[in-house]
Amino acid sequence: MLGPRRLPWVVLTAAVTCALAQHAPPWTEDCRKSTYPPSGPTYRGPVPWYTVNLDLPPYKRWQELMTHKAPMLKILVNSLKNVVNAFVPSGKVIEMVDQKLPELLGNFPGPFEEEMKGIAAVTDIPLGEIISFNIFYEFFTICTSVITEDKEGHLLHGRNMDFGVFLGWNVNNNTWVVTEELKPLTVNLDFQRNNKTVFKASSFAGYVGMLTGFKPGLFSLTLNERFSINGGYLGVLEWLLGKKDAMWIGFITRSVLENSTSYEEAKNILTKTKIMAPAYFILGGNQSGEGCVITRNRKESLDVYELDPKHGRWYVVQTNYDRWKNPFFLDDRRTPAKMCLNHTTQENVSIETLYDVLSTKPVLNKLTVFTTLIDVTKGRYETYLRDCPDPCIGW
Ligand SMILES: *[C@@H]1O[C@H](CO)[C@@H](O)[C@H](O)[C@H]1NC(C)=O
Ligand SMILES: *[C@@H]1O[C@H](CO)[C@@H](O)[C@H](O)[C@H]1NC(C)=O
Ligand SMILES: *[C@@H]1O[C@H](CO)[C@@H](O)[C@H](O)[C@H]1NC(C)=O
Ligand SMILES: *[C@@H]1O[C@H](CO)[C@@H](O)[C@H](O)[C@H]1NC(C)=O
Ligand SMILES: *[C@@H]1O[C@H](CO)[C@@H](O)[C@H](O)[C@H]1NC(C)=O
Ligand SMILES: *[C@@H]1O[C@H](CO)[C@@H](O)[C@H](O)[C@H]1NC(C)=O
Repeated sequence: MLGPRRLPWVVLTAAVTCALAQHAPPWTEDCRKSTYPPSGPTYRGPVPWYTVNLDLPPYKRWQELMTHKAPMLKILVNSLKNVVNAFVPSGKVIEMVDQKLPELLGNFPGPFEEEMKGIAAVTDIPLGEIISFNIFYEFFTICTSVITEDKEGHLLHGRNMDFGVFLGWNVNNNTWVVTEELKPLTVNLDFQRNNKTVFKASSFAGYVGMLTGFKPGLFSLTLNERFSINGGYLGVLEWLLGKKDAMWIGFITRSVLENSTSYEEAKNILTKTKIMAPAYFILGGNQSGEGCVITRNRKESLDVYELDPKHGRWYVVQTNYDRWKNPFFLDDRRTPAKMCLNHTTQENVSIETLYDVLSTKPVLNKLTVFTTLIDVTKGRYETYLRDCPDPCIGW
């Protein structure tokens, strides 16, 4: 791993190195074909399944998984600490995180506090660092999510989870440090009550919120980061000052997956609940027309954009930019995704062709940790680890 003293250099030059490693960015390619079932250099491997038993007290739920994953989580937490120490070399920030953060942040609602305490105990990582690891996803989740409806009214939901930007670059093989360290932490989770599935999700071991998941037969949900000047930092500040009426975004999606019982109920909660950080919620249901992108600021919904198959809108695509604005010119994954969906046509959309779209650069890029494909009504849920060998854009 990179020593703390090498890191500032690596962090600062990451963007440059990246740009040099590519052909002139943005790197794009023709829409991929016949990439499913996953194989070849863009496929890293399968994701293991674990059961989380919701009948256990929250403190004990993560024991089995975290016993397996503690060594990998320690590596990642250390990398994050190295980044922080590179910017503030005195070690004071980490000291604060370890000693003061749990008290400063105070009580988290529902099962979250106890779950994080249980994870800290099993992994022997200070609670403050586990909390930081959980909060960190509120800020760096750069993704692409898609919902499609075929000619028969059958829905599919796909997403690429892109994560780790600007947190260190491996010069040996042109990859992001954190993105690579997240791959062995990626798990599929089957949350059960009474030995029956309540919902399934893909996540990173040690994280108790959920950003990608589905409730078989009912709905599917993914969350994408939304950058905004009036962003999550203000939410965290309010929280620290004692105003704790907003939900952390990864926690609200977990709650909806766990406790909502229909597309409409989920949509209602995701539209109306006050949240800590701006976000996009991509929600799919179980019948024709039930698919939407909810664009949120912290207090309210700005836009709900729905499928409208009768008028030819047979897909919705969301990356990390408001749909009424142009994407940042160095980071346009939206146009290629739409172009490839157009190319696929509604007649031919399927799990296979959706994987093709999510495998086309730059929708697939060096930040992509995994690809998830969801068929709510058939109860089909698949997640694959990804790689993006050169030439490939860094984000
Ligand atoms: C790149 O190198 C890092 C650090 O050595 C390693 O963890 C990672 O698996 C490598 N990734 C690829 C795609 O080769
Ligand atoms: C769940 O299944 C296990 C074994 O398959 C059994 O021992 C346990 O009692 C079951 N629990 C419930 C709540 O039904
Ligand atoms: C789901 O609802 C149950 C029962 O009300 C509650 O105990 C639990 O904390 C909720 N789960 C989440 C993640 O909010
Ligand atoms: C679709 O979801 C609704 C709840 O929104 C549920 O009542 C219905 O049974 C579901 N349909 C199927 C085919 O599962
Ligand atoms: C995709 O097709 C729609 C409908 O024909 C069109 O409005 C849109 O511009 C196309 N997008 C791209 C990126 O090709
Ligand atoms: C749909 O896919 C089939 C098989 O891959 C292909 O032969 C056909 O041309 C496609 N249709 C369209 C409209 O693209």
